[in-house]
Amino acid sequence: VGDHSASQIYVRNKRRTTEATGMRSFAHDLPADTGEQRLLALIDALNADPAVSGILVQLPLPATIDAERVTERLDPRKDVDGFHPYNIGRLVLKRPTLRPCTPFGCMRLLASTGESLAGKHAVVIGQSNIVGRPMALELLMARCTVTICHSATRDLPRIVRDGDIVVAGIGKAGYVAGDWIKPGATVIDVGINRGDDGKIRGDVDFAGASAHAAWITPVPGGVGPMTIATLLANTLHAAELQDDA
Ligand code: GUN
Repeated sequence: VGDHSASQIYVRNKRRTTEATGMRSFAHDLPADTGEQRLLALIDALNADPAVSGILVQLPLPATIDAERVTERLDPRKDVDGFHPYNIGRLVLKRPTLRPCTPFGCMRLLASTGESLAGKHAVVIGQSNIVGRPMALELLMARCTVTICHSATRDLPRIVRDGDIVVAGIGKAGYVAGDWIKPGATVIDVGINRGDDGKIRGDVDFAGASAHAAWITPVPGGVGPMTIATLLANTLHAAELQDDA
């Protein structure tokens, strides 16, 4: 809904990748002045449509629409973002069903290092519903010791310096300095920040952090494409859930 510029790029990439895997993508581009009732009616129709396995409402929504009410209107079995309270609740209870794409995909990135996660100190910077909170729950489920940092956290560099795993989802370009990173740490940069020069940068000073980290994701080309791949895996999972029902 609307014309949020970053959203347009994300949605275009999601559509393109969906089609590339052989899934059908149905686009519903609504104007910024769309009323909440119209959006809820569309979700009701998609919930009921057997041709639709997954529904993704790109965020942010215009301030005139209650995003929580919209998220809660989705059929949880079609909630491929994993943001419905049912799906978040399942993750809290260590019985996940559809899992938020970015954190779930970050777990796949961590698994790909081949290193065991149990007992590692994972520092999550940011407490958003989309990234920080579900990320912390995923890491906890993998038996990490988890610290969640946010804008009121005192002495962030001290905490980050103790992190074996650092996940940054702050939304400030280059905020995490290279010398905050413990030697041998794994760094996952979820930030996507567009500078005045039009370039995309992450939340971490990549060059500085690379000197210390054993593993680090680049921006762009790291978490972004992985999130879309996870979205498509979730969509397949959602289709299976509906087949089983
Ligand atoms: N806006 C920013 N990230 C996301 C996401 O993961 N899902 C949706 N739906 N909107 C977003």
